[in-house]
Amino acid sequence: MPTVSEALSLMDYGPAPESPAVALDWLKGRTFGQFIAGAFTAPRDPFDSVNPATGAVLAQVSQGSEADVAAAVKAARAAARKWAGLSGGQRARHLYALARLMQKRERLFAVIESLDNGKPIRESRDIDVPLAVRHFYHHAGWAELIADEFPGMRPHGVCGQIIPWNFPLLMLAWKAAPALAAGNTVVLKPAEQTPLSALLFAELCIEAGLPKGVVNIVTGDGRTGAALVASDVDKIAFTGSTEVGRQIRRATAGSGKALTLELGGKSPFIVFAESDLDAAVEGVVDAIWFNQGEVCCAGSRILVQESVAERFTRRLKARMATLRVGDPLDKSTDIGAVVDRVQLDRIRGIVDQAVAEGAVLHQAPAPNGPGCFCPPALLTDLGAANIAMTEEIFGPVVALMTFRTPDEAVALANNTRYGLAASIWNENITAALDIAAQVKAGVVWINGTNLFDANAPFGGMRESGYGREGAREGMLAYLTGAGAGGRARNAPEALSPLPAGASGDAVDRTRKLYIGGAQKRPDGGYSYAVPGAQVPLGGRKDIRNAVEAAHKAGGWSRVTGHNRAQVLYFLAENLNARARDLGPGDEVAQAVERAFYWAAWADKYDGKVHSTASSQVTLAMKEPFGVMGIVCPEEAPLLGFVSTVLPAIAMGNRVIAVPSQANPVPALDLVQVLDTSDVPGGVVNIVTGPRAELTDTLAKHDDVAALWVFADATTCANAETQSAGNLKPVWTDPLTRDWSGPQGQSREFLRRAVQVKTVWVPYGA
Ligand code: NAI
Ligand code: MG
Repeated sequence: MPTVSEALSLMDYGPAPESPAVALDWLKGRTFGQFIAGAFTAPRDPFDSVNPATGAVLAQVSQGSEADVAAAVKAARAAARKWAGLSGGQRARHLYALARLMQKRERLFAVIESLDNGKPIRESRDIDVPLAVRHFYHHAGWAELIADEFPGMRPHGVCGQIIPWNFPLLMLAWKAAPALAAGNTVVLKPAEQTPLSALLFAELCIEAGLPKGVVNIVTGDGRTGAALVASDVDKIAFTGSTEVGRQIRRATAGSGKALTLELGGKSPFIVFAESDLDAAVEGVVDAIWFNQGEVCCAGSRILVQESVAERFTRRLKARMATLRVGDPLDKSTDIGAVVDRVQLDRIRGIVDQAVAEGAVLHQAPAPNGPGCFCPPALLTDLGAANIAMTEEIFGPVVALMTFRTPDEAVALANNTRYGLAASIWNENITAALDIAAQVKAGVVWINGTNLFDANAPFGGMRESGYGREGAREGMLAYLTGAGAGGRARNAPEALSPLPAGASGDAVDRTRKLYIGGAQKRPDGGYSYAVPGAQVPLGGRKDIRNAVEAAHKAGGWSRVTGHNRAQVLYFLAENLNARARDLGPGDEVAQAVERAFYWAAWADKYDGKVHSTASSQVTLAMKEPFGVMGIVCPEEAPLLGFVSTVLPAIAMGNRVIAVPSQANPVPALDLVQVLDTSDVPGGVVNIVTGPRAELTDTLAKHDDVAALWVFADATTCANAETQSAGNLKPVWTDPLTRDWSGPQGQSREFLRRAVQVKTVWVPYGA
């Protein structure tokens, strides 16, 4: 007879399958058309939606054409005015109805999701669907409160929304719920691999009595997505690969369409020696083996402190061996099928290359059969340049490296183009929060990972995109301000370069650039003439020098808001004292007032504590971008400069400012004020010259994190196009403003000067 412990070790899980009967009955033999204006069109150009665990065809859906997209956008447009005109409370009731119906069909949604995507039923049932339902409830609340909480703001109009295949229903909820709450109508394109839960949602819209055309769903592949991007929508919201995100940035440049991008990641999972190692091992399971690792914020780079690396790795391997790979509908399955063969091949390709580059692979063999299964994997013995450390794999494969000191951990963590998420494991919360402040990531989890909530902003920094989803911050992505509404700006005239000291008389009046707290001659040695002065003709090299100087002034981003306020008040006083020398009275007086105004904000535009899970405080910290470019308006050369540069530095940014081209003298005169006001060198840098060219350089520069362009439409459009490289957020405004009034000091200047970092800290039970 075996002993009890022997018997236990021999025991295996019995099968615990969830029945697909109801779902298959709903799907049976169906070919779906497009959901436009509240009804399904006749199917056209159908393709299969496949169950990746078996290869079985689940249903057919239609490849949306340009005409389909146009019809859907037209329906959304026709519905927009009435939908936006409903009271918040009326829209809230529609959202509640959708939430309630989804909740009623939770099981059906979960099974459809697992069939279509391959994810384990335990996850679709316990995570995807409840979070999607919660999203609709939460946003019903925002609809209710919108007039009170977002005064003066209005919806964009029609939103085109393009979502990926990894969380089909949840991404639909993240996109549609806030858009609808804000009063927009929607054309949503699900991923071609996983369209079915969106089509089930379309049926719910009918059942819930949602007005026709408020939600439209067009299925199809990337071509349909591209058609939606090109169509007559007012905003595009995209979640998917960074490459397609770049294409969309280029395609929408100059169109005036608002854009938010939620892109890839290569998020660090940092394990300090002082962590609870067993909890951290369990964390890895949730970080990279959740949803087959097909998670944009997956903790795909483990950085573990050297002193515990051996122990940690041993436990991790043991835990990995217990994970069950197989039938997604089996309730004891941990890892289901990868979404399709293409993705499986991509995962294997990267793993093969990682091994070829010297990594050691720890992975059980894949199960036999037609399903797209990829067993969990760990890669060790690799360097920071290994492909598994740099590329998003989007599979259940994690790479592990060691570090020695906290500084090294931060350096490795930030050694990526991305900035979506980070997990930090350390029982010493002080030490963990110190790292949280230094990591470049939109979401940071302390002693946890992959926590989500409708009331927690989610989104990236750097090449992980921009915009936030969830909470108050997410609502802002679907609302817009009153708009400047002035006339279109003209492009400034071409400049005629003059060699330095061209006319003897002008030499004394030749101004200099201001870089790193010092006056500098332009690199090219040329200047140009403006009334009463000769000003430097700055170029690419000068911008690069200014960016370098701004980077060196990083201390400014770390001082307290109080300290920054003191400096700005001093600046305002000095501006006032010099008012008489600075030019026409009205504008100077307004500039002085504006400087006091932004000084007042320096320590007040603070973050939030969001109410999410009971065992967490969820902080939404407002962090400066770091180094920003600001192309100041031509109109109001002094007031426009002060109104844009000061809010940016008040929030802790360092700025490269391009002042008015035709009249840069007032901005250059400010240099003495900056010098006498204790603004540290490099915090404000001023480069005068041809603004189109200088804007182009700022847009392309990888070390400029955000850009504001108050210029003519061509310069604005080019800035957007050129920003696709490093995906910096660009705020363009091609219309003149009345800088003396509210258009010169709205909350938007502050909002556009910061990025939100969401930090989840364990609190309570
Ligand atoms: P993808 O970015 O091509 O697909 C996402 C969505 O964009 C889908 O709905 C697709 O139809 C649509 N799309 C594709 N091309 C488009 C275009 N030119 N214009 C407009 N929409 C377009 O991602 P894909 O090919 O499915 O996966 C490739 C890799 O991207 C994955 O291996 C993974 O690394 C990454 N990825 C990242 C995601 C994330 O959430 N961060 C989600 C999906 C994929
Ligand atoms: Mg599928």
